[in-house]
Amino acid sequence: MSQFVAQLGNVATAIETFLADALSAQEAAGAPPRLAAALRHAVLGGGKRFRPFLVAESARLFDVPLNHALAAGAALECIHCYSLVHDDLPAMDNDELRRGRPTVWKAYDEWTAILVGDALQALAFELTSSSEFHQDPSVRCELTSVLAIASGSLGMVGGQMLDLEAGNLGSASKSTVEDITRLQAMKTGRLITAGCEMGAIVGGASPEARAALKSYGEHLGVAFQISDDLLDAEGSSADVGKATGKDAAAGKATLVGLLGVKDARAYLDRSIASAVDALAQFGEKAGPLADAARHMGYRDS
Ligand code: IPE
Ligand code: IPE
Ligand code: MG
Ligand code: MG
Ligand code: MG
Repeated sequence: MSQFVAQLGNVATAIETFLADALSAQEAAGAPPRLAAALRHAVLGGGKRFRPFLVAESARLFDVPLNHALAAGAALECIHCYSLVHDDLPAMDNDELRRGRPTVWKAYDEWTAILVGDALQALAFELTSSSEFHQDPSVRCELTSVLAIASGSLGMVGGQMLDLEAGNLGSASKSTVEDITRLQAMKTGRLITAGCEMGAIVGGASPEARAALKSYGEHLGVAFQISDDLLDAEGSSADVGKATGKDAAAGKATLVGLLGVKDARAYLDRSIASAVDALAQFGEKAGPLADAARHMGYRDS
């Protein structure tokens, strides 16, 4: 088993417990039961937890133990889960399967799914700004700021706007490689990069080390979305846990659609190599992060 797979498993287990506890605490404090149940459906019992892994592994470069990176990782996972719940809505990608289960709007209804996303966004910032998890106020402030910028109009939400514009307004056929990489850097890359930066913040990294992790995250983000698009084109729904074969029909602007599978794969390989190169200053300690990037070339879920 690669160091990456082992460490991803450790993080996934710890994050599952952390998020389950956070949601239980909200329910115990009086959150409406239907909302609490839908939140559990959205957040628990699935997902690779790749973004919390990036937070934890980036922080580990600076000798931060896993427990001290969990709140930041869980905050990022909350934003990610919210993005998926909204991404699956009928008005967006209109998907009925997520993480091998019915999507939140399918299991509940659209208004519940909208509110689940809203609640997760708020919970994310409750976690980054809580003195219970990070004693240093400047760390809390920086985590909150990096996550907010990566989530909003210049990040995930902005990228989702470009993605849906291309699909729904029929402009995908005019998209260039530059258009698509910008869209994907925003919708997917910014949260992935934020994970690496949040690990650096928790670890008190130097500006040089933080810049290297940011560069790693940017290349990894490109690789991550190309591999997601390859899974849509070539993967089976049973393996991936969500519908496949939809992007082309929905007119999505993807590098797989523009360049074809072979050239998109070559682009993916170059992005992986650049991501690994960006880690040079960390030496062997960054082995799991380098493995994580290499894994993007052949993941099946
Ligand atoms: C899927 O992300 C959405 C994209 C940004 C491509 P993941 O592949 O990380 O989904 P989960 O969290 O493992 O379900
Ligand atoms: C989603 O991209 C990116 C998000 C910000 C959620 P996709 O629409 O390709 O993600 P999947 O394939 O539904 O997971
Ligand atoms: Mg989408
Ligand atoms: Mg989608
Ligand atoms: Mg996809």
